[in-house]
Amino acid sequence: MIYSLNLVNAVRTQDNFQSAPSYNCVLFVFSIFVLIGLVSSEMAANQCVTKVELTVSCENLLDKDIGSKSDPLCVLLMNTQAQQWYEVDRTEKVQNCLKPKFAKKFVVDYYFELVQKLKFGIYDIDNKTIDLSDDDFLGELECTLGQIVASKNFTRPLVLKNKKPAGKGSITIFAEEIKDNRVANFEVEARKLDNKDFFGKSDPYLEFYKQTQTGWQLAHRTEVVKNNLNPSWRPFRIPLQSLCGGDLDKPIKVECYDYDNDGSHDLIGIFETNMTRLQEAKHGAPAEFDCVNSKKKQKKKNYKNSGVISVKLCQVVKEYSFLDYIMGGCQINFTVGVDFTGSNGDPRSPDSLHYISPQGVNEYLSAIWSVGQVDSNPFCTGIEGVVEAYRQCLPQVKLYGPTNFSPIINHVARFAAQAAQQKTASQYFVLLIITDGVITDLDQTSSAIVNASRLPMSIIIIGVGGADFSAMEFLDGDDGRLRAPTGETAVRDIVQFVPYRQFQNAPPQALAQCVLAELPQQVSSFFSLYKLKPPHEPSQP
Ligand SMILES: *[C@@H]1O[C@H](CO)[C@@H](O)[C@H](O)[C@H]1NC(C)=O
Ligand SMILES: *[C@@H]1O[C@H](CO)[C@@H](O)[C@H](O)[C@H]1NC(C)=O
Ligand SMILES: *[C@@H]1O[C@H](CO)[C@@H](O)[C@H](O)[C@H]1NC(C)=O
Ligand SMILES: *[C@@H]1O[C@H](CO)[C@@H](O)[C@H](O)[C@H]1NC(C)=O
Ligand SMILES: *[C@@H]1O[C@H](CO)[C@@H](O)[C@H](O)[C@H]1NC(C)=O
Repeated sequence: MIYSLNLVNAVRTQDNFQSAPSYNCVLFVFSIFVLIGLVSSEMAANQCVTKVELTVSCENLLDKDIGSKSDPLCVLLMNTQAQQWYEVDRTEKVQNCLKPKFAKKFVVDYYFELVQKLKFGIYDIDNKTIDLSDDDFLGELECTLGQIVASKNFTRPLVLKNKKPAGKGSITIFAEEIKDNRVANFEVEARKLDNKDFFGKSDPYLEFYKQTQTGWQLAHRTEVVKNNLNPSWRPFRIPLQSLCGGDLDKPIKVECYDYDNDGSHDLIGIFETNMTRLQEAKHGAPAEFDCVNSKKKQKKKNYKNSGVISVKLCQVVKEYSFLDYIMGGCQINFTVGVDFTGSNGDPRSPDSLHYISPQGVNEYLSAIWSVGQVDSNPFCTGIEGVVEAYRQCLPQVKLYGPTNFSPIINHVARFAAQAAQQKTASQYFVLLIITDGVITDLDQTSSAIVNASRLPMSIIIIGVGGADFSAMEFLDGDDGRLRAPTGETAVRDIVQFVPYRQFQNAPPQALAQCVLAELPQQVSSFFSLYKLKPPHEPSQP
């Protein structure tokens, strides 16, 4: 997905926190108003674009873990113009499994007339760092989106970096055009499930499958409820596109498993249904299904079921896309925070991260530039303003610690909270923090982020320099929901962390695309979570 920032009527405010004694924070802040449009240099307004959903599964992956199986994850990289590869998205990690079916789907824009090179990389995830270079590589596939779209069941061998086969490993990618923008919101529980565990009780989870021409395809996997035969899963949503291709009468298969750490999950039971039936579920009148295990049914005479799955609610709602919100009048308030703390070094010294080289650049400037200037269009007067303000402010600031993130997050959150009171999707706030990564108030920052997760707000952190970014990776809750020291968890993931060094030699738009990759999803999921519509009905381009 390629988004660009079109800065319209760049309204600039400058709050220099250094001179504001009420903030114990040396972050330089200002905000600009931007309109984010789906525009890119390779996409003229009349070019046709289709959204495509990619479902990935693998077979016969290499086993890299001694005593257990690999824990694979798939990362999707894209390369539009023979430039640097950049990461588009990644799936969840599947524990102890050599033939994973990834539940997370990739959504990409398909430009009919462009060669869109894709690379699917499979990694055995050994630790929680975002960086994949310290994880075992299980193989990759390079192909074009056109190849995948043209083939119903696109299966290819995986290769290693030296192009040799990755054992017998193969990858299958299934592409489907997204035509339906409705989602189904589910609330599901179960009762009297069979106990599959010797010690303790079953740890049940559900998998929802869509029927396709080539077989059943995983649409959604719930979380595991530990040690419970009467589980209640967290409410979840499945796009109708993924669940039934928008056809309410199409069969849907639901499988219930007992989770096992070693990957040998036991089937509890299965049922088949369709959206027409599921939608009959209303609060107080659930739709209930016998969870049937055919093996047990054959063996036992009086077999009835292996438990009952109760769909308490299945509500279909129209999902507005990010673009619907933007075209429907939602404005993005973009605030940039630059880290002027002591750990960056004295700007006059060449080893400082703020040192402006004779060529007039440093990592802070490059990061600001590349996020604001998504493509080669010189439209970014607003970003120029940011850069200019940064340059002006540099000689004046005195760098000192500590680096506190929470004041600036709370500062933007106050505006976001005001906007949220209007009860329409009229404003969304993005806070871009550029920092060397050394953070002093991690606990307060976690709390501030957990607080802000309820507001129309996202935080993008770009780490410059070579410091340890483990705190930043912790704040980017990709591996699960961020938890505040009070135990409260974020209602959604609003932080995206990107280390600048990965993009040092890449074209500027690669960083911007990576940084902005999660934003559209964060904007639309926030507004749909709170059932907020665009201020006016979006007019399609
Ligand atoms: C992550 O795990 C790999 C493999 O076990 C190891 O080589 C690497 O040092 C680990 N990285 C960190 C940051 O712990
Ligand atoms: C896709 O093709 C592969 C190999 O040709 C096969 O193993 C797999 O079952 C197929 N997938 C589906 C969903 O039909
Ligand atoms: C939908 O599923 C129900 C069972 O849940 C079944 O009775 C009904 O016949 C199905 N409808 C269609 C059109 O297949
Ligand atoms: C945008 O947000 C900032 C807070 O970061 C605030 O100071 C500014 O007034 C907002 N701009 C508009 C036009 O609402
Ligand atoms: C979180 O928000 C509540 C009120 O909404 C406020 O009282 C509290 O101070 C905030 N916590 C942090 C850490 O910002």
